[in-house]
Amino acid sequence: SDESFIAYAAAAPNLALIKYWGKRDSRLVLPLNNSISVTLDDQLMRTVTMATASPEFAEDFVELNGKPVEVTDRMRAVLQSLRQRCQRGQDLASWKVRVATRNSFPTAAGLASSSSGLCAFAVAVARLADTLRWLSTVARLGSGSACRSLFAGFAEWSAGQRPDGVDSTASQLASAGHWDLRVLVCVVGAGAKSAPSTQAMARTVATSSLLPARLSCLPDRLAAVREAVAGRDFASLAEMSMRDSNCLHAVCADTYPPVHYLTDASRAIIDFVHRLNEASGRVVLGYTADAGPNVCLLAQPADVHLAAGCLQRAFDIGQVVGDLGEAADNSKVPSDWAGDGSGGEGATARHRIESLLICRLGRGALDIPQAEAAAWFD
Ligand code: DP6
Repeated sequence: SDESFIAYAAAAPNLALIKYWGKRDSRLVLPLNNSISVTLDDQLMRTVTMATASPEFAEDFVELNGKPVEVTDRMRAVLQSLRQRCQRGQDLASWKVRVATRNSFPTAAGLASSSSGLCAFAVAVARLADTLRWLSTVARLGSGSACRSLFAGFAEWSAGQRPDGVDSTASQLASAGHWDLRVLVCVVGAGAKSAPSTQAMARTVATSSLLPARLSCLPDRLAAVREAVAGRDFASLAEMSMRDSNCLHAVCADTYPPVHYLTDASRAIIDFVHRLNEASGRVVLGYTADAGPNVCLLAQPADVHLAAGCLQRAFDIGQVVGDLGEAADNSKVPSDWAGDGSGGEGATARHRIESLLICRLGRGALDIPQAEAAAWFD
């Protein structure tokens, strides 16, 4: 009807270098620790969302890639908080909403689709309600990690201290242009379905005796990452990211019953990175893995070609997507190293990497114009 309103948004997934794992308040989605992420380029991976409000809708309705999905409690919390803030008057605040969402990457592949999905959801509905204030708080209600996708480049989400959470907001640490980092997403394909992060992190908080040790070493690690970003210190950023990823998966293993995300293929990629760095005499790659088996590699632009070539020697790679860059004369790696992936301890099976996606850092959801999001939707 001509009374309806429509709004669009787009967001890209973000990749945490210092992970969010554990809540101090589940209802308000308040984390136990600060986290730092990079927002990936929306040209390669994005979620686009169209939100419509009309007095004719009987109930809230959400669809993903053309199929109806459950309207979760978290989505309802986002809708409710935006209805309270609605600047378009009481009528619209009482109307039901339809949200249609499309991902340009496989939802089930574990590519942080909740961060881009719930971020685009929050921004689209906030545009409907004509209020972009408190967006970090609203996006967080949908999924904690979503609030970092609002921002381009490097973002930090503060845990905050207040019980009401008003100081738990995300902000930009540095723009995408500040540092041309590349992320090589190694999609290792579906093993057993991974434990959903919400439930898994709650179990970690309830049962892990290593979690306090993780939390106590994070302030120093966060400071080191902020410093590495400010000074474009790749070796430090990569090391901190690798250590934090290992730490996350260690507290997952210490959870009771344990939470397993990494597969043999994931671990083979992690070991590959250490071998490559060792053989090169410098930090060529870093890695980090979230609540799933995929491993994301961090690289400087001049090393992407070399890294992809070495990966191709050690793994069975299905497809390579994105900009490989030029071959650069940067290799001190012996030409035959790691060809069998053995690291000198006897040949091992070549693991499969389904896709290798090479991403730049990109725009935050707040930087992507509504008209552009609408065009992608068609
Ligand atoms: C391992 O943001 O998906 O990716 O807030 O419960 O929705 P909820 O959790 P979610 O958790 C992300 C966990 C992580 C680390 C990170 O992104 O910081």
